[in-house]
Amino acid sequence: MPFAARINDAISTAIRTGQVAPSPSKLASALNYAVSPGGARIRPVILMSTAKACGDDRPALADAAAVALELIHCASLVHDDLPAFDNADTRRGKPSLHRAYGEPLAVLTGDSLIVMAFDVLAQAAEHDPTRAVALMRILATRTGMPSGICAGQGWEAEDKIDLSAYHRAKTGSLFIAATQMGAVSAGQEAGPWEELGARIGEAFQVADDLRDALYDAETLGKPVGQDDLHGRPNAVSELGVQGAIARMKDILGGAISSIPRCPGEATLAKMVNAQAEMLTPMQWRADIAGE
Ligand code: IPE
Ligand code: IPE
Ligand code: MG
Repeated sequence: MPFAARINDAISTAIRTGQVAPSPSKLASALNYAVSPGGARIRPVILMSTAKACGDDRPALADAAAVALELIHCASLVHDDLPAFDNADTRRGKPSLHRAYGEPLAVLTGDSLIVMAFDVLAQAAEHDPTRAVALMRILATRTGMPSGICAGQGWEAEDKIDLSAYHRAKTGSLFIAATQMGAVSAGQEAGPWEELGARIGEAFQVADDLRDALYDAETLGKPVGQDDLHGRPNAVSELGVQGAIARMKDILGGAISSIPRCPGEATLAKMVNAQAEMLTPMQWRADIAGE
C-alpha cells in the first residue's frame, strides 16, 4: 500500500477510537477537523521511508509510529494557532480550529490528540514491546521539555532567542523523531539517524521562513508575515533571502551524506532529494544556480 494510504487509514482508525459513543459530539468532530484534510504529511512520509530503508519488518509498528507523530504535529498546529500563541485565523486553507469550534474546544482537541498519540504507541506494544517503549521515549523527548516542540514554543517567551536552538526544538524535533522512529520501528538504533532528521528539519524551517516572507496567504492557506508580526527571529531576517536560500542548499547537501548505512540507502537518498525539491521551488532553485 502507498505511504499516503497507509497513513490516512491509520489516522482515521485512531481518530475513530476517540469518537466512540458516548463522547461529546463537538469535540469528536473537532478531532476530525484537526487532522483532515491533512497537510503534506511530510513527517510520517519521512518516518515510513526510513522504516522501509531499514527493512520495515514490523509494518504495524511503523504505521503506529507514523500516526502518533502526525497526531502530535496536528495538535501542535491547533495550539499554535490559538490567540495565546499566533492568533491565526486560517490553517490549511480553512478557518483555524478555534475559529471553527471556539478556544476551549481547540485546547481540548490538542490535548486529546497528544494523549491519543501515546495511546496508539502503547497499543502497538503487542507487536514488539521493547521497540514500542523506545518509540514512546523518542516521541516524548521530541514533544516536551527540554528540547521538544514545547521548548520550541517556550523560546518565544524569552527576551533573547537562540535562533538555532529555537528552530531545532520547534521544528527540527519532529523531523528528528521522524527518522529515529522510522529506524526504531524497524529494529535499528535511533542515534545514527538524528543528523538526517535535524538537517531535513532545519531546511524545512528555513523554507517555511522564506515562504512566510515571500508568499501570500491564499497560496499558503495560512497567514503570512507572521515572523515579522510577532517579532520572531527567522532565517530571512538573519540572513536575507539569498543567504537563507544558500543556507538551505548547504543543509540539504549534507543531508544525503548523513544517511546511515542501511539496506535501502539509495532509495532513501532519492526520497531526501525529492523532499529537497519540494522545499525549494523553481524560482529559488534558479537563484541558487545563479550564485
Ligand atoms: C507547518 O508544518 C508548521 C511548521 C513547523 C513550519 P507543515 O508545513 O508540515 O504543515 P502541514 O501539516 O503540511 O499543514
Ligand atoms: C508552527 O510554527 C508550530 C509549531 C512548530 C509548534 P509556525 O508558527 O512557525 O508555523 P505556521 O506558520 O503556524 O505553520
Ligand atoms: Mg504559527
